[in-house]
Amino acid sequence: MISFREMHPEDAAAVERIERASFAVPWSRRAFWEEAANERTLYLVAIAEGKIVGYAGAWIVLDEAQITNVAVAPEKRGQGVGRRLMKEMMARAKARGAVRMTLEVRPSNEAALTLYKSCGFEDYGRRPRYYQDNGEDAVIMWHMHL
Ligand SMILES: CC(C)(COP(=O)(O)OP(=O)(O)OC[C@H]1O[C@@H](n2cnc3c(N)ncnc32)[C@H](O)[C@@H]1OP(=O)(O)O)[C@@H](O)C(=O)NCCC(=O)NCCS
Repeated sequence: MISFREMHPEDAAAVERIERASFAVPWSRRAFWEEAANERTLYLVAIAEGKIVGYAGAWIVLDEAQITNVAVAPEKRGQGVGRRLMKEMMARAKARGAVRMTLEVRPSNEAALTLYKSCGFEDYGRRPRYYQDNGEDAVIMWHMHL
């Protein structure tokens, strides 16, 4: 069974482990702690059998939510955790007044693109050379009706 709750400062070590396993340019523990403590953000962790298996974050400014991070522990991928996490983010962002949600994703990240499309996000264009590590463009996606 999977449950979701807001991220707490004491989750930072577990979150950082997943972050390091997931991204070429990982965020630090301090960055997560600072973001999650900000009242304009929504940071959630997914918990299975008492362990953090994924997390996601967003800024919520007026009626727009902007996803900053989504990751699932490598050994838990492909089991629907990412989808449930996104649905939970969308529901909670909506409850806090967001009507739209946006995110950026690498065009090479097939798993993430598939996930977002299946959650109702659509491709709205590119930010050229957005990712500094390899100069890859970002696909800008929006969900216009949460
Ligand atoms: C992207 C990520 C969060 C998806 O999480 P997940 O728990 O594996 O996703 P789910 O099991 O819920 O699958 C969701 C959808 O994506 C698809 N998918 C999952 N892994 C895939 C893969 N490797 N290739 C293609 N599609 C994939 C699934 O088929 C599913 O779609 P479907 O139900 O229509 O078949 C996870 O792969 C991850 O943490 N990746 C590294 C970090 C990352 O890239 N984050 C996103 C940054 S924008």
